[in-house]
Amino acid sequence: MDVIEETEVITEENLLEKTELEYRFLDIPQNTFFSILFEMNRYFDKSFVQWIREKNLKLTQDERNALRKYFYYGDKKFLAEAGVKTFPQYVATEEDKCQVLISFDTRTKKYDAKKIIKSIQKRYQLLHSKNMHDNSEVWLNWYEQKREKFAYSLFVFEYSMSDFIADNFSIDNILKTIQDSYARIENYRYFVFKLEGKLFNEQNEDVTWQTLYKASLYAENFMQVKNFAPFNQNKRKKKIKKLASFLEERFSFSDDKISDNTINQNAESLAEEFYQNISTGYKFSDCLISETQNNILLIFQKITLDENPIPCPACMSTIQNGNSYPEMFMKSYECKNPHCPERSKSGRGKRFTEYSAYRYFKLSQKKAEDEIDLDILKKWRKDVFADRNDIDTMLIKLYSFSGETVCFTKEKSLTENYKRKISLYKKNAEKEINQKENAGDKSNKNKNAGNPNNEDQNKSFSSFESLPIYQLFYKINKLINFKHGSKKLSKQIEVFNQNSKTGLAELAPNQIGSAITSPPYYNAREYSTWENLIFYLIDMMDNAKTVYNSLIPDAFYFYNIGDIVSQDNIYINSNMSKRRLQLGFLSALVFEIAGFNLVGNIIWDKGEVQSKRNSTTNNFPLYVKCINVYEHVLVFKKGRSKEIISSVKKITPVIKINCKGENIAKHTAPYPLELVELLKPYAKDYALDPFLGSGTTLLWCKQNNFKGVGFEINKEYFELAKENIENYQRELF
Ligand SMILES: C[S@@+](CC[C@H](N)C(=O)[O-])C[C@H]1O[C@@H](n2cnc3c(N)ncnc32)[C@H](O)[C@@H]1O
Repeated sequence: MDVIEETEVITEENLLEKTELEYRFLDIPQNTFFSILFEMNRYFDKSFVQWIREKNLKLTQDERNALRKYFYYGDKKFLAEAGVKTFPQYVATEEDKCQVLISFDTRTKKYDAKKIIKSIQKRYQLLHSKNMHDNSEVWLNWYEQKREKFAYSLFVFEYSMSDFIADNFSIDNILKTIQDSYARIENYRYFVFKLEGKLFNEQNEDVTWQTLYKASLYAENFMQVKNFAPFNQNKRKKKIKKLASFLEERFSFSDDKISDNTINQNAESLAEEFYQNISTGYKFSDCLISETQNNILLIFQKITLDENPIPCPACMSTIQNGNSYPEMFMKSYECKNPHCPERSKSGRGKRFTEYSAYRYFKLSQKKAEDEIDLDILKKWRKDVFADRNDIDTMLIKLYSFSGETVCFTKEKSLTENYKRKISLYKKNAEKEINQKENAGDKSNKNKNAGNPNNEDQNKSFSSFESLPIYQLFYKINKLINFKHGSKKLSKQIEVFNQNSKTGLAELAPNQIGSAITSPPYYNAREYSTWENLIFYLIDMMDNAKTVYNSLIPDAFYFYNIGDIVSQDNIYINSNMSKRRLQLGFLSALVFEIAGFNLVGNIIWDKGEVQSKRNSTTNNFPLYVKCINVYEHVLVFKKGRSKEIISSVKKITPVIKINCKGENIAKHTAPYPLELVELLKPYAKDYALDPFLGSGTTLLWCKQNNFKGVGFEINKEYFELAKENIENYQRELF
């Protein structure tokens, strides 16, 4: 039901009087005029959606739009367009008509009446034209002109142990290819790092996940952008100030400290250094893992700031405003053409991005070779997949459209190319391509502020250690001090209501032989209170280093963490900074800097999770994505390891909510006992959980006759943990 701003007594006479006035003025038949108002106001959308659900219709975006037209206008051609045999039409009562009319009247007074009326007229005209709202051909032709001639729509960088040997066990070549690929990929399209088999270093240690996390963090951070309007000097200053005072709160920067301090910097200059530019690169999208971990795919999207105007998908005009960013560097426009048929009921122009428009028009073409068949959809529903040999087919089908060019780095014989142009990447051909590009039409070039090759003001880093995010944590690590206390643990199970950083420092050395935990999640739950992702990582690193110092040599630390979709708030505090945060890989970064070695990653396959993130009914490229069903259990060691520890484990998550919607676990994020079982082969002396929560780790220790020590900062959870552990005792006797 729409909100009516003004109340007015409606009588049959004044309604008719009004209607007559409006529709005469617009020259639109009365019934159609009402249909337009209902459609614009989305007046009956609720019942429309309900009908779709009741009839269990699976529709593409286009079919749904057509069906909606039928619902409001009753023209059978829309029903045919939607591919649906029968569907109800809305039934408007006289009262509904009154209300929508009052709403229209109010809006024309409150907002720009001319714009609203022109938009209604355009809607009416287009209602009778053959290709209503369908600018596919014109828009896509425009895009073809604009499209960079030598760019790939999908770039698949394939890597395996033989390449690693050829690269002398160095990751530099991987980083270089990531950097080089960036300029070769069309804006908003995907780059895939496809790893086949494990990687071992010269000492025969498994460095697969070390390589993956470095490649992934490098891909997201290898470029520096100086100017991005929403991150202005004022915002920059505020961010620097906040980070500096956070660092000062946590660490000692006193003058005499600086004099013998290896970093020789104060908090302000550390913060300034980090915030000098914006670290950017590809945007991390997904990490797909096969059940044997024999195939791992890191998937990234390129998003470079492009200020060029884009024709409005609804009216093809380029009269537009562009001042908002749904994502960092992704420009969104608002159509300013008064004749645009897609104005909202208040006369607001249509909002669009180049990516959304392209995807939409390609979808509306409904080409058979673009459609993703059910077999592929079924097999690639989840991001943990059965080992298979059709990975290339999946990548082609999910991430490119027919007619586009897909680049692989290894020669292959595909049984079918699905009407894509398949290209082989040759490093040495780079120069040739660059020359061709330079000779090409310059007017077509984007103003690529984020492209390292086009803009002098931006630079990119060639080594992992030179990334500002690495540098920041490398220096912070040097500021973390630790001294052992003298407290001896004596009971089999020791539980403390304390910050684990403080508690661990009170303990005498050589008591803790292993650790397992699931840390608090950055801004995901009620106990998360960090200003931004960097602040969170600083605290986690501080804690990790304390655990490192408390552990005996060669001890293992199992760290359970999943990636989340959230705002990183590093530069901008808005939805613009919302993305899939690589919490797993970022944790690996700070743990390794703190002294640990990442010796493996046990993928906890949780099965199907209820996440709407990737749900779509459009079985077309760029719409379909695998659902995230796993969390990492990163395996760190205080020392080196030749063991192969990584695997994929299916473990059912704890069911927290009962059928009445109550949280029976009484904690928001408990992990299952079966997960703690992973520690069994490595548990020695006391097993530690620095973030105890509901006490699962210690309950497992109790059940399995291990000694255990846990810290929980929250009083309520501490009591809950104690209760859970004691209850087990009672059950025994
Ligand atoms: C994800 S939960 C752990 C859940 C636990 N694995 C379980 O099965 O119930 C993380 C817990 O760490 C606690 N916590 C956060 N920071 C802490 C700190 N510095 N020291 C001790 N506990 C902390 C939170 O209160 C929260 O209960």
